[in-house]
Amino acid sequence: MLEVRDLRVRFGRFTAVDGVSLSVGPDETVGLVGESGSGKTTVARAVVGLVRPESGSVLFDGAPLGPVGRRPASLQRAVQMVFQDPRSSLNPRMSVSAIIDEAWRTHPSSAPSGDRTTALHSVLDDVGLDSSVARHRAGELSGGQCQRVSIARALAVKPRLLVCDEAVSALDVSVQAQILRLLVDLQQRHHLAMLFISHDLGVVHQIADRIAVMRRGVLVEEGPATDVLGAPQHEYTRSLLDAALELTRES
Ligand SMILES: Nc1ncnc2c1ncn2[C@@H]1O[C@H](COP(=O)(O)OP(=O)(O)O)[C@@H](O)[C@H]1O
Ligand SMILES: [Mg+2]
Repeated sequence: MLEVRDLRVRFGRFTAVDGVSLSVGPDETVGLVGESGSGKTTVARAVVGLVRPESGSVLFDGAPLGPVGRRPASLQRAVQMVFQDPRSSLNPRMSVSAIIDEAWRTHPSSAPSGDRTTALHSVLDDVGLDSSVARHRAGELSGGQCQRVSIARALAVKPRLLVCDEAVSALDVSVQAQILRLLVDLQQRHHLAMLFISHDLGVVHQIADRIAVMRRGVLVEEGPATDVLGAPQHEYTRSLLDAALELTRES
């Protein structure tokens, strides 16, 4: 479904992404892991069309996605992103209802044909939020609730691919687990493809079917999660794995 081919992104003279190729099939969750600064967010931004690649291509169903603005509306809608910090990706003064409405206005083809309130409540229910949350402003919600609203906003336009960039990294461990469970559940119920990005291999482990490991702009290892975690081929993957195990032992 998503195919990234030999992607190269430069900022000035610095090459942040240096020839990355990866694919995400329908119904599949691919984890992209690597330490901070390895280029994961840049890959995500190239996929959603927010940065222009120096070379390489991003294809969806075999067609080039193109940059935001020049991307066909149907493709723009098909690929949605959930960001790390819901407090900065949601306007704190906007009500949850207005946030979802805005998503429907941006992608009119996804707007409900029937009663808006019923549709809104169903979208909220889908992410485990009570319908009473609709009236609240984003700024009044907890971090976990905010992230559920971000996910609801993405799902409201019925995407086919969800790109989650450090979507649970800013949350407490217990809330992290809840949001991960929600994402797994939504992925299955809605047959979503997911590119799940995190610096934390322990988190990626809980959700990914396949794992791609990135280091300094380059993919160093890629394969089924069981292989990458069970028998890592690259020294760098082993060090990430050791670090994740170390954290588990400490907690
Ligand atoms: N807009 C930008 N301008 C200049 N450098 C950037 C920009 N965005 C990212 N970088 C640099 O590219 C590298 C990769 O960043 P990023 O993709 O955010 O990594 P990650 O998400 O893995 O932490 C970092 O060294 C970062 O400083
Ligand atoms: Mg990042």
